[in-house]
Amino acid sequence: MSTCDDVSSCLMQFVSGLVKNSSTYLLTLTGLVLFTGCYAFVGDEAPPEWKDPEGSASDIAAIAAGTGGPGASVYNAKCAVCHQMNGQGIPKVYPNLVGSSLVVGDPALPIRIVLHGFNGPIERDGISYNGVMQPWKNDLSDQEIADVVNYVRTNWGNDASEITAEDVKAQREATRAKVGAYTEAELKSSL
Ligand code: HEC
Repeated sequence: MSTCDDVSSCLMQFVSGLVKNSSTYLLTLTGLVLFTGCYAFVGDEAPPEWKDPEGSASDIAAIAAGTGGPGASVYNAKCAVCHQMNGQGIPKVYPNLVGSSLVVGDPALPIRIVLHGFNGPIERDGISYNGVMQPWKNDLSDQEIADVVNYVRTNWGNDASEITAEDVKAQREATRAKVGAYTEAELKSSL
């Protein structure tokens, strides 16, 4: 321990001590900055992974991330806004696609609905709807319609056979003269 007799010599000792030790301070400071920087970088590289214990949100996450296959991408972009990510729609406004006979029945039905649209009064599970779904024939290719129809036929517990772009092409040709959206009665009598 060094001693000092008065205030000014004490101050001098303190300052010269600081200067002597300044390189140590600098090194420590640099070390700290580097360490913090690395830590932040490692943090960016490995974000904590969220786990869905029930698996309940995994379909929705896959759709949102565009990793659910081509049908999920079309569904997400064109259909989910009305029929919702989970396919259940909104009661009284957009019908449920889960378990719908127009989804899982004869594949010509969902293909024709997507090609030409659907409107007029319908009743599903005791709930009335009277909305308008627009046609997609000019916006979606045969392949895209096949992908999205397969998506709704095989998701959320729906378990119907898959179709091909050729099936869509055949329906497109068979209904070429159709004008406007189908009503339920028109759709069913069109087959
Ligand atoms: C703008 C909202 C909207 C969008 C987007 C939409 N739909 Fe619809 N969809 C409806 C409405 C409304 C009905 C019911 C029409 C009615 O009331 O007659 C319907 C009915 C249906 C039905 C018949 C279900 C049943 O049980 O009656 C199917 C199948 C269907 N939509 C599939 C699709 C697919 C596949 C897409 C995406 C390519 C899509 N919809 C996009 C609004 C929409």
